[in-house]
Amino acid sequence: MATDFTEETAADAVIESFAPSTDPRLREILTSLVRHLHAFARDVELTIPEWETAIDFLTRVGHKSDDERQEFILLSDVLGISMLVETISNRKFGVATESTVLGPFHVVESPVRELGDNIDLVGTGVPCVVTGRVVSTDGTPLPGAKLDVWQANDQGFYDVQQPEVQPRANDRGLFTADDKGEFWFRTIVPSYYPIPTDGPVGELLKATGRHAFRPAHIHFIVTAPGHRPLTTHIFVAGSQYIESDAVFAVKKSLIKEFTPVDDPDQAAKYGLSGPFSLADFDIVLEPAAES
Ligand code: BEZ
Ligand code: FE
Repeated sequence: MATDFTEETAADAVIESFAPSTDPRLREILTSLVRHLHAFARDVELTIPEWETAIDFLTRVGHKSDDERQEFILLSDVLGISMLVETISNRKFGVATESTVLGPFHVVESPVRELGDNIDLVGTGVPCVVTGRVVSTDGTPLPGAKLDVWQANDQGFYDVQQPEVQPRANDRGLFTADDKGEFWFRTIVPSYYPIPTDGPVGELLKATGRHAFRPAHIHFIVTAPGHRPLTTHIFVAGSQYIESDAVFAVKKSLIKEFTPVDDPDQAAKYGLSGPFSLADFDIVLEPAAES
């Protein structure tokens, strides 16, 4: 091993320092990480004050994080890393529904609901019906599939952000698909909303002239025996910020029309009494064995 530090050999020296007993995957990851970090520092000719700023920034990201707030994940989100890792891990398998990020607001167990229940316990906003069917990649329906659903309200807040304002578990529900794999529930059309900006990630967005908003969406975790769990959203077509999601989580296949319906017969069919929006979301799960 070289004893004289040089810019060119420093990465090799670090990599050679890993003991032969190092776990092979850990070695692979650290080797690539060290090479990229050294190349990056050389590429931008990182100064000592810049290095100190980065250390201070990461320290503050750590201090901002606790059991409820995860500023590191938020940093990963706004740098596009969360979506990159998500997409690498869930490469689209034929016709399977695409995944997207989990986000920080899946924090309480969703209450068990019956098909057709209204998950919005407040009643402001545009009423909405979501329908769909859960099938396997060969089209076989998946009766009994579970759908864990959560969303922001019409003002762009999750229940956990407004514990004094919204009822607990508002706009959340755990549904079970029927014997044809079909599901439906009532809710309100969610609003776009900002990700948390009161920490160092907010400063980063500001320093780079970026907004903090996510387009309107409804989150789903869908599970069925013998199939890979799917974490995804549907995005409201035409929502503000659909072209510039702060966390880069929009995939075209997940943008759905929330079609306005002004027909008393249709409304009555869904137990509603006025105009509403109707969204349809068929979900295709990948058999676990295929992955
Ligand atoms: C969300 O959709 O709930 C979310 C995702 C990433 C960062 C912040 C919020
Ligand atoms: Fe969300």
